Amino acid sequence: MAEEAVPLPLNLAEYEAAARAMLPRMAFDYIASGAHDEVTVRANRAAFAQWRLLPRMLAGVAAVDTTTTVLGQPVALPVLLAPTAFHRQAHPEGELATARGAKAAGTIFTLSTVATSAIEEVAPQAGPWWFQLYVYQDRAITRDLVQRAEAAGAAALVVTVDVPKLGRREADERNHFTLPPGVVAANFAQAGQQTLSDTSAGSGLTAYIGAQFDPALSWDDLAWLAGITKLPIIPKGILAPDDARLAFQNGARAIVVSNHGGRQLDSAVATLDALPAVVEAAQGQGEIYLDGGIRRGTDVLMALALGARAVLIGRPYVWGLAVGGAAGVQRVLSLLHEEIALDMLLCGCANVGAIDRALVVPVGPLRAGPTP
Ligand code: FNR
Ligand code: LAC
Repeated sequence: MAEEAVPLPLNLAEYEAAARAMLPRMAFDYIASGAHDEVTVRANRAAFAQWRLLPRMLAGVAAVDTTTTVLGQPVALPVLLAPTAFHRQAHPEGELATARGAKAAGTIFTLSTVATSAIEEVAPQAGPWWFQLYVYQDRAITRDLVQRAEAAGAAALVVTVDVPKLGRREADERNHFTLPPGVVAANFAQAGQQTLSDTSAGSGLTAYIGAQFDPALSWDDLAWLAGITKLPIIPKGILAPDDARLAFQNGARAIVVSNHGGRQLDSAVATLDALPAVVEAAQGQGEIYLDGGIRRGTDVLMALALGARAVLIGRPYVWGLAVGGAAGVQRVLSLLHEEIALDMLLCGCANVGAIDRALVVPVGPLRAGPTP
């Protein structure tokens, strides 16, 4: 009998299923989980189901242009890679493979502070990339990370503001989550910052973050960061309209509307639900990106229609990495890219600038009269 090729996943959900079948339980659970009852994980997805698209016909669109720019950087599609930790638990080439996959797909890779490949190793493999910063209690460590990222060519600093402590992920606690042998947080030289060795009370990451990250970050710290780097600062984890206002007042160039994929505060508002009020509060002072639950091209269109400049994906590309390394990351992005292009054509949108508020309507009967 002829050998049957394993069919490639056709969509992002199938990548998750394929990765689940391959990954050790501890790694799969860490990537997939959210905090507590995962109300927010589900809410992120459910928010997209509250909207419908209102396509326009006979728009005379022969081909769509999915390109855009983020902080002036051209990207092939309005989808970037969110920072996610510890890629070598998903694939032996870790962040090097992810960086190559993003580059091949023509978009930005955001490298996590707690990556398992060092800044200086990843940078030569990457196209345009951003560095995600966690602020360590030891400001010398923090300053060193910022300076290394800047020296290695990061184009922006994504400062994550929603992790004063780690959210409680019960699967990780049960599994006594730690890194596989030989895999370390490669941006650090000291064992204290490199390994998740204390699993006595549950997740080794909870103990690590409790010992290392600064739980008391404030807007003053953002100002301090702005003073030590020339890179544009992008706070990630903004949900409240007032925080969006404060972010721009304190020098942010862009913000990421995010609840950390439902991994931090459970029952936090879904990101798509938070987006319109954030956009209104920001009054055009900077770009607004969104992450959380993006799984289809139509999700991207809805987020853009409600005011996001671009979106980021987290878990889906980690599943792609687990299944196929750099090629898997690239394919996850190209599946989304093809969906976006088809969806734009079906909506009558020739380019991403044509995706506006009139493209979405709330679920339910349409009201007569001009669209809002
Ligand atoms: C994350 N996220 C994250 N965020 C961050 O700022 N620094 C980090 O190191 C990590 N690490 C991390 C690991 C894993 C396994 C996941 C799934 C997520 C959050 C991430 O950037 C993003 O906000 C969410 O993943 C977006 O939601 P989706 O796309 O996963 O639904
Ligand atoms: C997480 C941290 C590392 O979500 O951001 O697991």
